[in-house]
This record gives sequence, structure tokens and C-alpha cells, in this order.
Amino acid sequence: MEAKVDEIADGVYRISAYLPDIAPPAGFTFNHFLVLGDEPLLFHTGLRRMFPAVRAAVETVLPAARLRWICFGHYEADECGSMNEWLAAAPHAEVMHGATGVMVSLNDMADRPPRILANDEVVDLGGKRVRYIDTPHIPHGWDAGVLHEENTGTLLCGDLFTQVGDGPALTSGDIVGPAIAAEDLFRYSSLNPGMGATIRGLASLAPGTLALMHGPSYSGDGAAALHALADDYDRRLRQATA
Ligand SMILES: [Fe+2]
Ligand SMILES: [Fe+2]
Repeated sequence: MEAKVDEIADGVYRISAYLPDIAPPAGFTFNHFLVLGDEPLLFHTGLRRMFPAVRAAVETVLPAARLRWICFGHYEADECGSMNEWLAAAPHAEVMHGATGVMVSLNDMADRPPRILANDEVVDLGGKRVRYIDTPHIPHGWDAGVLHEENTGTLLCGDLFTQVGDGPALTSGDIVGPAIAAEDLFRYSSLNPGMGATIRGLASLAPGTLALMHGPSYSGDGAAALHALADDYDRRLRQATA
């Protein structure tokens, strides 16, 4: 397996691995994001079995040992399966996550003590600033959260907007239609009454780039895409409860 590396915003690298056997014939991507700064951050560690490929890709940009922060959307194998491999490769790295993730899973599962991020807390990476936002159960996982990098306006939005296929690294095309189709296919979201409001809350950040874990990154009116996604989840909820 190989992972492709593309800079999708200034100092934000998308490291993408494509697995053709998942959801064939389209296949499926797993994307990991490296945010450069005095204290470099990796968002999504990747699956444990993907670690050699993701590490090799990261090391085309910077030595793995320089990583300072490891963060991810929620506790699940594709988001954080190789967390401890990264902690071993980067002796100064710490895992950071919301209070729920740390208390429910990471205090036990991480080989070094994780840092708790409060909702809306900003971490200064030196040249980049990431704001952590709790999004419980959205799209799934009690511990779910996202990061917004404020200098580039990049929302590291995890599993939101998941789509199948191996598209370009960065697109300005429609990402809402493919996300609706993937939701119909996988039913991966934990449909709940807070979805629309929480996703609209992220729209208030007005991100110019959306960094999807499964799909191309998007450059454009991130708020409009988030509003359209929120509207579709409201529609699903109405349908489910009608
Ligand atoms: Fe997930
Ligand atoms: Fe994921």
C-alpha cells in the first residue's frame, strides 16, 4: 500500500491511502492530515496495518520524530488505530482529545497520558492555531470532535461528508451529493436531533477548506456545504420519525 501526499492548504498536507476493495467498484480513501508549525500535528493516525505507509508518507514532509500532537475525530481504528505506533515513533508527541474521548478510551488505550481539550479550546501550534470543537455522536461516536485550523480556515471534519471513490486531492465541485449517496450506502451516521444544529454551528466558522477523512478535500464555500449537509440530516430525521 502507498499513500499519496498533497498540500491542500498552506502547510496542511493530505496523506491519502486508497483501498479499492472497500465499497467496490468505487473503492474508499483514508486520509490523514499533517499540519505544520513549531509543534506539528497529525490528525488521524490511520489504521494500525497502514502505519508503515502513512509514516513513510509523513516522512516525505518531516521526520516522524518531530511530531508534537496527535489528534483525531473519535476513537475508532481508522481514526486512531496506530496511535501508539506514532507515540513510539515521536518521543515528544502527545495525544490530545476532548474530555469524553480521554476519559472513556484514551486514558486507558494511549501508551502515554493524553491531554484533555475543552470544547472550543485553541492550541497554538506556532504558525498555526487549531480550535477543538466537541460534536458528540456526530456523525458517530460519543467522543466525536473536529479541529478548525484558523490561519488557513481549514476544518478537519473527520467522517463528515464521507464519500466513496478516489477523487482528486482537492476539489471545488459538489461534495454534498456524494456525501448523501455514501450515507444512503453505509448508514454510518448516528442520526440524532442535534445533528442539524451542530453541523450549522460548524458553518459559523466559515471554513474555506474542508478536509474530509474519506473523500477529496474541498476548497470553496464550506459554510454553504455544511448548511446543505445539515439540511439533509434534518430531512432524514423527519423521515425517520414521521
Ligand atoms: Fe468513524
Ligand atoms: Fe473515518
